[in-house]
Amino acid sequence: MSQVRIDPQVHLPMPVVLVGVMVEGKANFMPAGWVCRANYTPPMLAVGIGHGKWTAKGIKEAGAFSVNVPATAAVETVDYCGIVTGRSTDKSAVFPTHAGDLGAPLISDCPLALECRLHDALELPSNFLFIGEIIGAWAEESILKDGAPDPQKLDPLFLTMPDNTYWKLGPALAKAWACGKAVKDRL
Ligand SMILES: Cc1cc2nc3c(=O)[nH]c(=O)nc-3n(C[C@H](O)[C@H](O)[C@H](O)COP(=O)(O)O)c2cc1C
Repeated sequence: MSQVRIDPQVHLPMPVVLVGVMVEGKANFMPAGWVCRANYTPPMLAVGIGHGKWTAKGIKEAGAFSVNVPATAAVETVDYCGIVTGRSTDKSAVFPTHAGDLGAPLISDCPLALECRLHDALELPSNFLFIGEIIGAWAEESILKDGAPDPQKLDPLFLTMPDNTYWKLGPALAKAWACGKAVKDRL
């Protein structure tokens, strides 16, 4: 295999979440692909949000936000939330919500909804990296397997860039922390 040098402005395939926050007394939602688990204990998430987003203002002011995992059936509504900004469009009625313990708006009809307390905000040149501690988690019972979300039932959305395309989860490939044992035995 030979490699060629490409533009460093590279995006990995990413899961899509809806970040919910109260801004100026109204719930607001934006899709985010730049999200990942950041700490094991206590559980923390990190999400990269552009300086100018209405959501960024809300997270800094409220100190709490929600991370909701929509199913693929919601793709058009998710995309809508990424086309308009809460600065000029009221998105508070787009989803039914319930308030978390810290008051962050949790999306009731998402299969998985997490409430986060803002732990830290790192100001990068164009984005804030908001690190939130997950202080509460809610899931639709139908997507659970042995008490945890089943990836196939969760049916999350993925985004690729720069082709700006949504994807579904593909079939399972191999067991993690297990299939590598064959290589270990060989080497
Ligand atoms: C699928 C998708 C993923 C996105 N991911 C991010 C992201 O990770 N970070 C970000 O700052 N903007 C992201 N955006 C753009 C924001 O969602 C968009 O600018 C939105 O309108 C901001 O809303 P707000 O101003 O109400 O917060 C994404 C948009 C889409 C459609």
